[in-house]
Parts: sequence; C-alpha cells; structure tokens
Amino acid sequence: MSEPLRWVDAGELAALRFEPGAVVVIEGIEVAVFPLGDGYTALVNSCPHAGGPLASGIRDGDRIECPWHGWSFELATGACIQVPSRPARRLPVCVVDGRLSIGLPAAH
Ligand code: FES
Repeated sequence: MSEPLRWVDAGELAALRFEPGAVVVIEGIEVAVFPLGDGYTALVNSCPHAGGPLASGIRDGDRIECPWHGWSFELATGACIQVPSRPARRLPVCVVDGRLSIGLPAAH
C-alpha cells in the first residue's frame, strides 16, 4: 500500500530556473526539481553521502551526479548507481494550472 500524501504548493513553474535543478523550499525541506521526460521529478536537495546539493550537480541524461564527490542518481527513482543502499529521497511532483506541488507524507 502506498503512503498517504498531502500536496504542498511550491509556486509557479514558470518562476523556476533549472541549473540543472531548481531549488524550492517547502516546510523547511530543500527540494531539487528537475525536468524529466514530459514532466518533472524531485529529489531532496541533500545527497545521502554527505549532503551535497543535487540541484547543482552535473546532469547526465536521466541521472544527476552530485557536485561534491560524484555519486550518481537516477532522477526518476533516486536510485544511487555507485552505492545502491544509499538512494536519494525522491518526492512526488504534480503540476496543475502552471503551479508545482510536492507530495509529502501525510504524517510529516
Ligand atoms: S556529498 Fe554527494 S557524493 Fe559526496
């Protein structure tokens, strides 16, 4: 069973600058948003190795490489290529009427 979510507004999509990720802060959580396919994906903007800013990493196709020590993550899932036991935390994203929302666990 999937975890219940609540959707938190993260602002106008048009205001985001993707370099390669765009940083939004929701309820104190820094989130890195990336374009992916026809839509968007979001990872917590803190590398699970030592907290590097994934939004400022190096984009390589459907992966982002951490700018600090080079761990690489699948944007769609957060899976870590080098250390599978240390994935980045992915958060659900939706866009409605040009506004971005991020899904947080209902209990957060
Ligand atoms: S902090 Fe990201 S690879 Fe070290």
